[in-house]
Amino acid sequence: MQDVFCRNIDYLRISITDKCNLRCVYCMPEEGIKLKPHREILRFEEILRLVKVASGLGIKRVRLTGGEPLVRRGVENFVRKLIQIPGIEDVAMTTNGILLTSLGPALKRAGLKRVNVSLDTLQSKKFRKITRVGDLHQVWEGIETALDIGLHPVKLNMVVMRGYNDDEILDFVKLVYLYPLHVRFIECMPIGEADGWAQKQLVSQEEIKARVAEHYPLEPCDSILGSGPAQYYRLSGALGSVGFISPITAHFCPTCNRLRLTADGRLRPCLNSQWEIDVKSPLRAGATDAELRDIFLEAALRKPRRHNMSEAVWNQPRMMYQIGG
Ligand code: 5AD
Ligand code: SF4
Repeated sequence: MQDVFCRNIDYLRISITDKCNLRCVYCMPEEGIKLKPHREILRFEEILRLVKVASGLGIKRVRLTGGEPLVRRGVENFVRKLIQIPGIEDVAMTTNGILLTSLGPALKRAGLKRVNVSLDTLQSKKFRKITRVGDLHQVWEGIETALDIGLHPVKLNMVVMRGYNDDEILDFVKLVYLYPLHVRFIECMPIGEADGWAQKQLVSQEEIKARVAEHYPLEPCDSILGSGPAQYYRLSGALGSVGFISPITAHFCPTCNRLRLTADGRLRPCLNSQWEIDVKSPLRAGATDAELRDIFLEAALRKPRRHNMSEAVWNQPRMMYQIGG
């Protein structure tokens, strides 16, 4: 599937729930969120049908996101079925890690190959401040479980926020000497809760890279298994690597290869654009595969050339926990 700018669309991010067991300051309001009624959320069988259609159009890689994907009951069985769909070569997940210790082994048995864990701090008190309710120890145990059971690669996503965790950049780099982890520093995007705030908190990839390079020589290297926009660097003697994801200061739209499916059944061509197309209603009204294909194709054709996050305010009803990053 190609879009009008000749980008090849082979990657689908699927938010399987808008629920989460954390309340990160940049993602959710403190009082929690109004969840979509259960019937609004796609059933697993419905998602599987859509992925079959998408794979016929050239979708090869799928990532499960949320909210927090591991809070949805039955996720292991769903992963097992997803992996069996012909044409799907890679199924990955982005999780906050809280439930990885308990669910990791079952997911691995189901065929999940790899995980990205969102972790913004290595300090317990600060973790509680950023996530409002979380226990860092559980996440760390989850990361160790992921490494132990051979999920590979394990990537860590750190959203860098000035005044919150930018003093920990070098601590995260140290991790890749101790563990085969791939640490990715992400610029904070003005999305949802973070809007109006992320702009002030922004630490540019240039600044992060300079701070790292002051202490560690960085050698550019190929992408670490995956299809995302991170630029990776090897550090001599390290077991893992560091990567930089720079949606704001070096937007990667020219190589964007993805569509997003929201938990309530809408296809979204661009994280930053409000335009979405409802695929759930036609699906529930008995649409044929051909009709569903047309909806995917329309979504691909509506991918904008680029986002304008560096200039614009978010100004739209969807929050990050509904889109899945
Ligand atoms: N800016 C940058 N990254 C964000 N994430 C969530 N909200 C934001 C934001 N405003 C990250 C999460 C997760 C990934 C899916 O997106 O930390 O790792
Ligand atoms: Fe949950 Fe992720 Fe949002 Fe944090 S950023 S509240 S872990 S969905």
